Amino acid sequence: MAVLVVGGAGYIGSVTVRALLRAGRDVVVFDDLSTGFQEAVPAGAAFVRGATHDAAAVQQAVADHDIDVAVHFAAKKAAGDSMHRPGHYFAENVGGSNTLLDALRLAGVSRVVFSSSAAVYGNATALPIGEDAPKHPENPYGESKLIVEQMLRWYDTCHGLRSVSLRYFNAAGATDDGEVGEDFAQSTNLVPVLMKAVLGKRPPLEILGTDYPTRDGSAVRDYIHVEDLATGHVRAVEYLERGGATTAINLGTSQGSSVWEIVRAAEAVIGGPVPYVESPRRAGDAVELYADISRARELLGWEPVRGIAEIMDSEWKWRQRRPGGFVGAVN
Ligand SMILES: NC(=O)c1ccc[n+]([C@@H]2O[C@H](COP(=O)([O-])OP(=O)(O)OC[C@H]3O[C@@H](n4cnc5c(N)ncnc54)[C@H](O)[C@@H]3O)[C@@H](O)[C@H]2O)c1
Repeated sequence: MAVLVVGGAGYIGSVTVRALLRAGRDVVVFDDLSTGFQEAVPAGAAFVRGATHDAAAVQQAVADHDIDVAVHFAAKKAAGDSMHRPGHYFAENVGGSNTLLDALRLAGVSRVVFSSSAAVYGNATALPIGEDAPKHPENPYGESKLIVEQMLRWYDTCHGLRSVSLRYFNAAGATDDGEVGEDFAQSTNLVPVLMKAVLGKRPPLEILGTDYPTRDGSAVRDYIHVEDLATGHVRAVEYLERGGATTAINLGTSQGSSVWEIVRAAEAVIGGPVPYVESPRRAGDAVELYADISRARELLGWEPVRGIAEIMDSEWKWRQRRPGGFVGAVN
């Protein structure tokens, strides 16, 4: 039986496809290539081009490839953009997931691993953030993830479809060998923006707030290496196969890193300075966010093994190899 990886041509999906293949799984990638790249799909996986909105294509892929579990990454993920066009995010992330889930269950798939996000919590105040913390999404993107989690609970109650919603904190880094990472065009997150500044592809990095009540004045977030995230998905598939119940699980490190610590980790790997300017805080940004990962340890037997040094090392290898990402020039 094979694993259907929906959105497997994207950043986290393509790294997870590699982890599933290493774990001895047959893998079929289903992706509309709206933000992903066929080039990111390794030779060992089958590829089907299709959208979550296309129920017939989903059912055909399941029938053609003998699928019994799906991992669902497909979504639009730019939280800031979602404030400008919420309808697009609800249509893609909620509407697309609704059609996909119905098509999957009608085709006989009864287990799903879903890419959720720490964005479901919003700016939590109690740290570390456990799964039962209050959910106050700060944007339509985070709301769309919470709605799909709630849909999944009802699909279990009503249809017996079991699922794990994995709430990632800040995904970062590339494969350990630097072969596959995130395309520059797709990300506005700290690590890729920092790398763009280092490579002269954008102005100096803006440090947004240097007067926060943290150990060095900059904001603190939980950066999780994409290879560790990928392992988390393999473990979640195994958990469902063992009969595990529907749940939501944080994937982070439980360690917060400040923006200055990220800058210093990058400088240590690059061997030179990161160009930056200090700017005022951005309205709405939380001071400090990091995960409680005890549920992932307990239910998945999962533990992150990489930190910000490994994130920077893999990211730098990837950026040097492909300064423009998939669409840009190859070194
Ligand atoms: N990158 C992060 O820091 C982060 C953090 C938390 C959660 N997530 C979630 O993880 C998932 C993967 O994120 P990513 O960073 O790899 O993003 P990505 O944009 O690189 O990957 C998404 C993939 O899904 C495909 N896709 C999008 N809409 C589709 C549709 N309607 N039908 C079929 N395919 C479709 C895209 O072509 C792409 O290959 C997303 O659901 C995202 O919301 C990401």
